[in-house]
Amino acid sequence: STPFVVAVDGPSGSGKSSTARGVATRLSLAYLDTGAMYRAVTWALLQRGTDLGDPAAIARDAVDLRLESGTDPQAPTIAVDGADVSEAVRGDDVNAHVSPVAAVPEVRSMLVDQQRAIIAEATGGIVVEGRDIGSTVAPDAPVKVFLVADAQARAARRAAERGGADEAATAASLAARDAIDSTRATSPLTRADGAVQIDGTHLTLDEVVDAVVQLVEEAR
Ligand code: C5P
Repeated sequence: STPFVVAVDGPSGSGKSSTARGVATRLSLAYLDTGAMYRAVTWALLQRGTDLGDPAAIARDAVDLRLESGTDPQAPTIAVDGADVSEAVRGDDVNAHVSPVAAVPEVRSMLVDQQRAIIAEATGGIVVEGRDIGSTVAPDAPVKVFLVADAQARAARRAAERGGADEAATAASLAARDAIDSTRATSPLTRADGAVQIDGTHLTLDEVVDAVVQLVEEAR
């Protein structure tokens, strides 16, 4: 039988990571941050000097990267070719370039295959967060959440996480990524069939986690 999957999708800064990790911790499930995988590919291509304006170059240089995802919700990690890049992938250069890299179909098919393999091994169940989990990676997931929040709330949260970064610049960066992520041809960010939308704007993290845990309890 396939492992129990909780799919958590939504735009940048909606609180997906905190929510997904909170749910996984509460229910002793594994956790997969698929955004970290797209970030790690982007980081590696930046290191390699790949022309990120050229989708063919991106596809060519991405294929032989070896990613390893650590699935502990308390300490998730991402490594590429043996180097732990968990911190490095959060930098501004990766933020600025990840969406065009993630729009390349060959990158997506490679990572979706890896994500499905990780899910298949998570026999105790797994919370998977991203943009296309409920629509593409795990369309049969018994629980699908589409987490949203006001643009201003998302920017304020992300700026605070980044040690008081400029809120207007953060809002612009989130909006730029969402625009590309929502309009790309291959599995754009969208609310999947059967996904329950939760608006976290006026909820605490605990309240959002409670809501998702309740959906899990109803589903299993
Ligand atoms: O979730 P996070 O903000 O770390 O994701 C970084 C970027 O990776 C997103 O803006 C998007 O371009 C891409 N992504 C994606 N599909 C996923 C997860 C992330 O395209 N499942």
